[in-house]
Amino acid sequence: MKREIVCSGIRPTGNLHLGNYFGALRNFVKMQDEHDCYFFVADYHSLTTHPTPDNLYGNARQILVEYLAAGLDPNKATIYLQSDLPETIELYLFLNMNAYLGELERVTSFKDKVRQNPNNVNAGLLTYPTLMAADILIHKATKVPVGKDQEQHLEMTRTFAQRFNNMYKSEVFPLPQAFNFGGELVKIPGLNGTGKMGKSEGEGNAIFLNDSPEAIRKKIMRAKTDSGPTEMNQQKPMEIENLFTLLKVVSSPDTVEYFDDLYNRCQIRYGDLKKQLAEDMVAFTEPFRQRIAEISGNEDYLRSIMDHGKEKARENARKTLNEVRHVIGYRN
Ligand code: TYM
Repeated sequence: MKREIVCSGIRPTGNLHLGNYFGALRNFVKMQDEHDCYFFVADYHSLTTHPTPDNLYGNARQILVEYLAAGLDPNKATIYLQSDLPETIELYLFLNMNAYLGELERVTSFKDKVRQNPNNVNAGLLTYPTLMAADILIHKATKVPVGKDQEQHLEMTRTFAQRFNNMYKSEVFPLPQAFNFGGELVKIPGLNGTGKMGKSEGEGNAIFLNDSPEAIRKKIMRAKTDSGPTEMNQQKPMEIENLFTLLKVVSSPDTVEYFDDLYNRCQIRYGDLKKQLAEDMVAFTEPFRQRIAEISGNEDYLRSIMDHGKEKARENARKTLNEVRHVIGYRN
């Protein structure tokens, strides 16, 4: 199998939820055995929402803890903090010179943010995709494990990479692809009957890896449902389809089939489905809770991982940046 260069990150905006896990982190853990992996905590990206200094530090630390709790191994993958790599910022500047206002304004995630938060349309938000491209291209990554919502950002990364190569008649950057082990990129739904699981989607919409069993049960019992099927084999409305999608990721195929069959025969009781889903979620997240508790207090261990990751990541980043600077015309 070809050894790929893999790079991805997660913004430290709070605890990780199952969407982050199934869209990204699970893939990180699987890829570290076979590829050259760079996984970082995207603390620069989280600045677009202006966290307090305590939140910035605490959340970044928490993501590192959860990376490790999920099974990322610092002896296999390079794990680092985005802000420990100034090379990324220089590449971000270079890429911004060839990123155009029109294309940046058309990015779906930018338009969503403008709609959600019209009083905070900052330049960092607009150039979010160039920073993300810099994260990836600084390592010349070829595979980027992400969820479905990042597909467009990867497309832009390829556009910027290709544009740079063309402009300088070089082959500096490979064109990276979004990646998921199961094939298609995934979108894990939330519990409120609409869209995706996410922290900004409202209270109770996301299940976090660190949630207590009681919190998980409560959230799932409150998940949105309808009044039940009235015709045999009818199509499931979105909120019910979402519950089945969640069941598919944490429960056995037999369990999914059992409830699917009850639904198709109009005999389903949503209370039973939710109880089963809640228990399967509690069992699924149990090892994470345990490991998070074990690792959390180990400051020296966490610091040594960050220091080690920073060295390895910078070594690689410097090589790319030297090449980029040379191609652009900087002569030291
Ligand atoms: P972020 O922090 O919003 O999300 C981190 C990762 O989790 C995935 N994800 C989901 N996947 C499936 N279903 C969901 N409901 C769901 N919610 C979140 C996201 O797709 C993502 O993979 N821009 C990135 C962070 C980033 C990055 C990068 C990623 C910065 N630089 C370079 C890859 C490469 C972000 O905001 O993800």
